Amino acid sequence: MQSTPNTPENPATKTKFSQRNDGKIALVTGANGGIGKEIARQMLNSGMTVYVGSRDRRRGQAAIDELGGGARLLVLDVTDANSVAAAAERVAELNILVNNAGISDFGQPPTETEVHTFRRVYETNVFGVAAVTNAFLPALRRSAHPRIVNVSSGTGSLTWSTAPNPQFDYRMGGAGAAYRSSKATLNALTIYYAQALAAHGSFKVNALAPGLRATNLNSRAAEHGGDPAEAAAQAVRLSLLPADGPTGGFFSWDGTVAAW
Ligand SMILES: NC(=O)c1ccc[n+]([C@@H]2O[C@H](COP(=O)([O-])OP(=O)(O)OC[C@H]3O[C@@H](n4cnc5c(N)ncnc54)[C@H](OP(=O)(O)O)[C@@H]3O)[C@@H](O)[C@H]2O)c1
Repeated sequence: MQSTPNTPENPATKTKFSQRNDGKIALVTGANGGIGKEIARQMLNSGMTVYVGSRDRRRGQAAIDELGGGARLLVLDVTDANSVAAAAERVAELNILVNNAGISDFGQPPTETEVHTFRRVYETNVFGVAAVTNAFLPALRRSAHPRIVNVSSGTGSLTWSTAPNPQFDYRMGGAGAAYRSSKATLNALTIYYAQALAAHGSFKVNALAPGLRATNLNSRAAEHGGDPAEAAAQAVRLSLLPADGPTGGFFSWDGTVAAW
């Protein structure tokens, strides 16, 4: 299902988002900053209406003021059931959901990670995605071509953490265990959501590995990360996949297939 080859024919790489997308309605969670704000900006530039999810009204409003156009503030804390339900009440129609909101851990191996850190990270990166996706499914089902993009991480790749040619191997000593395992779980959920929604033939559900980006996620990202807009561009492509595009896949920011 996920093994779409990385060729020029791969719809995950060839979709042009310089096209106009007027009439499409998207929700990006955690869009008041970082990669999410860049996703919202690019969607807005192509004519979409974008619900800018923000757990903090003030930070969300600041983003709206900056983004302008068809940006709509949607106060949404993905860890708060009441907030999720209230936000879903406000959105009757939705074409695209980008589960972008995420938090980091303290970079520790599992042996030094307190259970409450696992819980805190999973609340946002895993349970928050399930809560938001399920709450907005009724609105997505009203769309002819619904798309869900889960912003995951290459550090959650089990293949890239093991052989062959691991990028994140034993030399890291299992660092970032809470965060990385939360993203591995998100990858699993991406497959299961794609499978569950396959009966509603037009759904596409894919995960994105955005690469290291200069955001507020953690100090390493802030100091060594590249342009968040570059990662946002691939999120937008995945949100606009054509009917013959992949579902249940995991893609890097450059459109190549990422290893699970
Ligand atoms: N930056 C990287 O190098 C990198 C690499 C791989 C994957 N990612 C993933 O990319 C996504 C975006 O992160 P980022 O790098 O752009 O980091 P960021 O600048 O810290 O942005 C994260 C966004 O998520 C929001 N958020 C956090 N908890 C939330 C909650 N409970 N409810 C709603 N929103 C919440 C934040 O809101 P506040 O402003 O209120 O905190 C912020 O808007 C995350 O899923 C992250 O794991 C990032």
